[in-house]
Amino acid sequence: MAKVKTAFYCQNCGTSFSKWQGQCTSCNNWNTIVEELVQKTDKKSWNNSGSTIKKVAKPTKVSEIKTSQEVRLKTTSKEFNRVLGGGLVPGSLILLGGEPGIGKSTLLLQLALRLPFKTLYVSGEESMQQIKMRAERITRNSDLCYILTETKTQNIFKQIETIIPDIVVIDSIQTLHTDYVESSAGSISQIRECTSELIKFAKETATPVLLIGHITKDGHIAGPKILEHMVDTVLQFEGDRNHVYRILRSLKNRFGSTHEIGIFEMLSNGLREVANPSKILISENNEQLSGNAVAVSLEGMRTLLVEIQALVSTAVYGTPQRSATGYNAKRLNMLLAVLEKRAGFRLGAKDVFLNITGGISVDDPAIDLAVVAAIMSSNEDITLDKNTCLTGEVGLSGEIRPVNKIDQRISEAEKLGFSKILLSKHNKVSLKNTTIQLVFVTKIEDVVSELLG
Ligand code: TYD
Ligand code: MG
Repeated sequence: MAKVKTAFYCQNCGTSFSKWQGQCTSCNNWNTIVEELVQKTDKKSWNNSGSTIKKVAKPTKVSEIKTSQEVRLKTTSKEFNRVLGGGLVPGSLILLGGEPGIGKSTLLLQLALRLPFKTLYVSGEESMQQIKMRAERITRNSDLCYILTETKTQNIFKQIETIIPDIVVIDSIQTLHTDYVESSAGSISQIRECTSELIKFAKETATPVLLIGHITKDGHIAGPKILEHMVDTVLQFEGDRNHVYRILRSLKNRFGSTHEIGIFEMLSNGLREVANPSKILISENNEQLSGNAVAVSLEGMRTLLVEIQALVSTAVYGTPQRSATGYNAKRLNMLLAVLEKRAGFRLGAKDVFLNITGGISVDDPAIDLAVVAAIMSSNEDITLDKNTCLTGEVGLSGEIRPVNKIDQRISEAEKLGFSKILLSKHNKVSLKNTTIQLVFVTKIEDVVSELLG
């Protein structure tokens, strides 16, 4: 009997070891090394038969490479195209990560059903009936979308050879397994091997492949980091499960910018694209309350007006609590220190809670000014004018720093009916004949006197 070959793999970074050890010497994590069965053969599962699509690569001059290969396949979802940088690039591998239940399967099934191309949706997680039920909720019938419930890559490739789809969706990479590695599905060596088979398939046939990937409890895509290196694009679907809004973000994109976001709304009949996010993120509420401020932020190429809510109250327990939802908690602490030191607010013994409404998270530093304004407003219990919005970064010495694309921000605020915007004095505004009043501020003290009088 042939000897069973095993190797030890770090489940975090994918490094292999010949024997077990407590700590991975590559990523320094403890207890991540697990023994896995390996039985590799030279045979590769895609294209064993040497089918017609196979070609041997040879050096080619850049000028001689046909650009027609770079034509992107446009999906019917504008938001999805935007995040990808214009559409699906033939032969690219796209990994979509996100928490369980956030809507990854819904997003890709909906996309597959609405694509004007022949699509194969492979599911290792749900049965045909379950997918059909979901497809009925999304309510679009498609003659071009094929569903396959299969987890063995060899069988998937066999079906692909008969159907010849233009796009392949795999839900999820962790459920796949290949015959050439013996360990269980979802293990590092399986994920790596299945992904490399899919890459080979994608590159040789110029078919885009969309993969769904689970994420671990600390928010990383389950499997080795190399999975993210192997694919061309890594997308993340995020949002608060208790809210309806979902954000599609690109974390890595070989064919486009990583700053773009797509915004969706989860309805009972699937995901709806949100074309004008600013409108929905600001409450329509006519009564202005203390602790609310509107920030003009920028995500990628689009402006987003978000409402910041702060609650400052006397701490009941000895140590005051500071908590932020949708905003970096460390940055909140920094802004509190700036307010304390530069503007004389006594916040040391107060609880401070901060929330960005709509369940979204923003990391544009331009919202600092609105965060500061919301905290001041709540602390003093004075409401801010509801037609005022703010944009600007706050520095450690309390100076208000300029932000990029100011003209775009101002016009968005104007479009949404704001009558006044606070911004840094150092921002050069080239806009002419704007009706919105521009209030330039240099220091945090100016903001205090402007807002609180
Ligand atoms: P799902 O796509 O199964 O999540 P994932 O694949 O990321 O685990 O999404 C499941 C959630 O979406 C579930 O809580 C129900 C909700 N949902 C809707 O609200 N509307 C719909 O039309 C569909 C299909 C799902
Ligand atoms: Mg799913």
